[in-house]
Order: sequence, then C-alpha cells, then structure tokens
Amino acid sequence: MNPNATQAPPANAGARLRAWVAEMEQLCQPDQVVWCDGSQAEYDRLCEQMVRSGTLIRLNPDKRPNSFLARSHPSDVARVEERTFICAASKDDVGPTNNWAAPDEMRATLRGVFTGCMRGRTLYVIPFSMGPLGSPIAKIGVQISDSPYVVINMRIMTRMGSRVLDVLGDGAFVPCMHSVGAPLQPGQADLPWPCEPDIGRKYIAHFPETTEIWSYGSGYGGNALLGKKCLALRIASVMGRNEGWLAEHMLISGLESPDGEKTYIAAAFPSACGKTNLAMVRPPPGLEGWKVTTVGDDIAWIKQASDGLLRAINPEAGFFGVAPGTNYSSNANAMLTMARNSIFTNVALTDDGDVWWEGMDGPPPAHAIDWQGRDWTPGCGRPAAHPNSRFTAPASQCPSIDPDWENPAGVPISAFVFGGRMTRDMPLVFQAFNWAHGVYLAATMGSEATAAAIGVTATRRDPMAMLPFCGYNMADYFGHWLSVGRRVANPPRIFRVNWFRKDDDGRFLWPGFSDNLRVLKWVVDRVRGRGYAVESPIGWMPRHDDIEWSGLDFPSETFHALMAVSRDAGTAEAQAHGELFDRFLDRLPKEFVFERELLRLRLWRSPEHWALAHE
Ligand code: GTP
Ligand code: SPV
Ligand code: MN
Repeated sequence: MNPNATQAPPANAGARLRAWVAEMEQLCQPDQVVWCDGSQAEYDRLCEQMVRSGTLIRLNPDKRPNSFLARSHPSDVARVEERTFICAASKDDVGPTNNWAAPDEMRATLRGVFTGCMRGRTLYVIPFSMGPLGSPIAKIGVQISDSPYVVINMRIMTRMGSRVLDVLGDGAFVPCMHSVGAPLQPGQADLPWPCEPDIGRKYIAHFPETTEIWSYGSGYGGNALLGKKCLALRIASVMGRNEGWLAEHMLISGLESPDGEKTYIAAAFPSACGKTNLAMVRPPPGLEGWKVTTVGDDIAWIKQASDGLLRAINPEAGFFGVAPGTNYSSNANAMLTMARNSIFTNVALTDDGDVWWEGMDGPPPAHAIDWQGRDWTPGCGRPAAHPNSRFTAPASQCPSIDPDWENPAGVPISAFVFGGRMTRDMPLVFQAFNWAHGVYLAATMGSEATAAAIGVTATRRDPMAMLPFCGYNMADYFGHWLSVGRRVANPPRIFRVNWFRKDDDGRFLWPGFSDNLRVLKWVVDRVRGRGYAVESPIGWMPRHDDIEWSGLDFPSETFHALMAVSRDAGTAEAQAHGELFDRFLDRLPKEFVFERELLRLRLWRSPEHWALAHE
C-alpha cells in the first residue's frame, strides 16, 4: 500500500463512513483510495483511463456520442444465482428458495477472500442514493469497489457522488463491499476485465439483520452494481417486510387514454422477459391516441401513502437493459435513450465504430467484432452479441419518461400485472377474482429459462418474478403481500399476462411488443369499471370484442386459441403449485391452500377444453 497516494476523505464525509472506509482499506490493501464526487469530469477521466487500459472502447462520436463498449470476461456475463447467499441468523428466515449461509461462517470466508484483494488496484468510495436524493423514501448506500467500470455504471444507474454525502451527514448507510477479486502482483499486467473466473470463489452475500452487502469475484451487472438487485431488492424486501411496504421486480408505467385519463400500473416479469419493452411501449397503429410514460423498467418500491393509495417510486436513475432484440420497432424509446452517454457491455462492434446486436434494425453488418473481440461475419455460426449483453443509459434521456418519475411521493398504482415466459397452455391475459386470488396467481407464476441468469435451464416457478431477489422466506413474503391488500381500502386489481404462448409449429401466437398495449387497455378498462369480462376457471377473461383491434387483423379463432384453458394442463399446473407450496411446509399462508382447492374444483367442473368461443 502506498499511503501517499491515498486521497483524504472529503470534508463532507461523516465519521462513521470514514471509519468504515479506513477499516476496509486495511482489509483490502489497495494502492490508493479515491472518493468519487459523481462529477462529469470524474466520469470522463475514468472513461479515458479505461480506454487507455483496454477496458473500454470509445464508440464513434458521430454515431454514438460519449459512449463506450466494454467486453467482459467470458465467464462473467450474468448474475450467479447459485453463488448468491442470504446470511440471516436463522435458516428458516431465509427459506427454501434462497441459499443460506451462517453469518459467522460467511463473514470468516469473506474476510479471507477480501484480505489483500485490492493489491495493485484503486479502492473507489461510491456514495449513492436509491430514490430521489433527500426524499424520505430514498435509501443511501455506499459502495466500495475496485472496478472503475462499476463507478461509471453506478453514476448512470443511481444518484451518485458528493451530494449524497451532504444528505447522509453522519447518518446510517447500507455498506456495499465489492471487489472483482483479482489482486495484482507488483509488475503484473492487468486484464481488460479482471474478475475471479472460478465460479466457486464468487460470493454475492447479503446480511439482512445488519443490512450489509458483500460481493466478490464478478464485475457484471446485478453482481457488481450493488444498489440494484442487492440493495433495492434483496435488502429492501426485508426492510419492506419490517416496515410494511413492498420492494418489487417491477416496471412502472403510466397509461394515458385519448381523453387524458392516466392510469399507472406496476408489472413484474422475470429477468429478460420484457419489462423494459413494456415500460416504454409505443402505441400500435389504431391506438395512436394513447400515450405510455415510463417511471421505471426494473424495480418498484411501493408504499401506502397518507391518502390510502399504494404509491410507487423507481429507486434507480438509469436502465440496464437487454440489448439483443431491441430495435426501433420493438422499442424505439430504448433506442433513443441509448443514443448517447451510454455504456454497452458484450455487444458487437461495427467497422464504423458503432454497436450492433442480433435483432437490431436493418440487415446485419457484413463484418463486425463480436462480444469476445473476434472477427464476426453473418452466418459464421456464433452470435455477435452475448444473449445477455446490455446497455446502461440514463433514464432522463428516455423520450417517454414520466413527468413524475422523480416525484418522491411516487405515482398511484391501479393495477399489478404479472407475466412469465410460458410457451404452452398459459393464456394471454386474465384477471384475478380478488386480491388473495391475485396474490396466488402471482406466487405461482412459472417462467422458462433466459440468458439473464447462469445455471437456470428449465421452466421454474418464479413467484412475483422475485425468486432470485427476495431476501427472506418466500412464504412470509406471500403473507406480506396478503396483508398489504388487507390494509388498502381499494387495492389495485391483479392480472396475469403471457406474451410468449406458441403454436404447435413453435411460432408466437401473439405479436407482442406494441400490441401488448391492447391488452393493457383492457386492464385499464377493468380498473376503471367499464371493461367486460367472462368468468373462466382461472380468472376473468376478455372476449374478442372486449379488446381494441383497430389497426390489427387478429381473427377471433386465433384469439380463442391464445386464451384457451385445457382442463388437463390446468390441473397439472395446479398440481405443480402444490409442489411449490410443499417446500414451505406450514409457513405457507392458509389462503393459498384454499385458493388451490378452489382452482382444482373450478377446473374439474369445466369442459375439457374451456374456450371463450363456448361462452
Ligand atoms: P431484466 O432487465 O433482466 O430484469 O429484464 P426485462 O424484463 O427488462 O427484459 P427485457 O425487456 O429487456 O426483455 C428482453 C427480451 O424479451 C427479449 O428477448 C425480447 O425480444 C423479449 N420480449 C419483450 N417483449 C416481448 C413481447 O411482447 N413478445 C415476445 N415474444 N418477446 C418479447
Ligand atoms: C436481471 O437479471 O433481472 C437484471 C439484470 O435486471 S442484472 O442487473 O444483471 O441483475
Ligand atoms: Mn431485472
């Protein structure tokens, strides 16, 4: 360690923070300490430094001003669920769906791996606020990291820097300790993307009782930007349980009708299942009078306000969105958001210095450099961009950003929408009979594997799209959801959707993307008490006539195929709910046992192939 190079704490750093940083410096033994001020000059300096070191490539400023490409180590491309731990004192409080580790043992392990882990590197102190700075619902964290890539991403994704210290004073913060886990010996050359390649030596550890986060070995996304999944979901979900609010893996958007009536919804989809797309969807032909505004695309903090309504804020300040498949027809607002001042990770580099990925507009380039830095041509048999490649872009640049997106009071939520990725059997849309049934529908949501998580291969139950993100026993989480509904006089209506049902030839039955607004319009109609629905065995459903089809030729037969409920498939589904519930033993809310019996009964009484055409 070279103490001469170490920056003194800034004048506005509180005593608690100074003490913690000093302790962590001793543990990690970096060459120097840098306190991040969050300024543009600091951001530019770090980018320049990373361009020189080979971590970043500056994109063509005529095409993509002030934007950069990073390529991760091929072993470090997504969250690592099997190395994510909740270290509560009691294993039962963590539940069967999380990895538990005893706090003492994990502390000893972490002390071991963190000792000297920043040798040859710089320790950055990154103060950040989740939620608008100074708002009563915001939470302040301070991340320590040895990754300058993390610093620049945190500056986009959170409110970061010196002004956070002004608000914090000597108050409490969530300590977020992060290292890429690649100390350098004197004279050893650095890699463009240092990390710990051995997955068994990565740790994403959370201590809910002391609200601490320790992450070791990865520089990627949710593993490393600790304000996001670690603080704003896993730790915040525990805070929410204790304090009576909800931290959810949800987008928030405003749906404005042609006559100016605005309805906000919050919608949960598992990772890489369409939240960013839906959060900023543009109306399809025929619904031009509608307007969709974006509050957030990944995380919602939802609290009952003094007016009795459930209000939601987006604790983030940027989007960390999936790149492949994003184009001007699937998501023009995302394309415009990342037109400048953005960071791209693991996409392809074109010969004219711009980015490219599978599914971008127009024909593929004749030649590019793929996400691993190799020559790429169409038809070479490899994807140019990694399937989980991402863009980091400021939310303020989003053309559809909602005027109230930074309102500390949040926006009032009228509907919750839950959607998994289900190729078979699951209808396009249906509404829960009531709050408890809706919580049941959300809790039993299934979804097929995507590239957003390593090691997930099959269809799995992903309750509320929170399976990787709930920081405590999910049975208690279900109970918490039930209790929130009991406290609200007129709770939001709950809906299930599925954009991903396929026909026997493997083609999507539903066009999706902008046409999803047709489904959301029915959701709004139901919330406003004017939409019609019929009762199916699994919930309230729109008839063909209840959906706005202008501008789209969608025959009622295809719609009926999309909405059909097979008695056998539904019964098998109910059976699978039982398998999920059994894991929670007697901690499961009794309401779920009743709901499941009612579902089985309704299916048993229904025709073998229940379809709207029969109604
Ligand atoms: P995280 O950021 O990982 O939490 O996920 P997200 O839910 O924000 O994911 P995102 O919106 O980036 O999802 C991207 C994937 O969903 C891409 O593969 C899209 O093609 C696909 N997708 C989004 N909307 C639709 C749709 O309406 N229909 C179909 N078939 N695919 C969709
Ligand atoms: C997700 O996987 O749900 C994400 C991306 O939003 S990451 O931040 O990497 O977790
Ligand atoms: Mn997410």
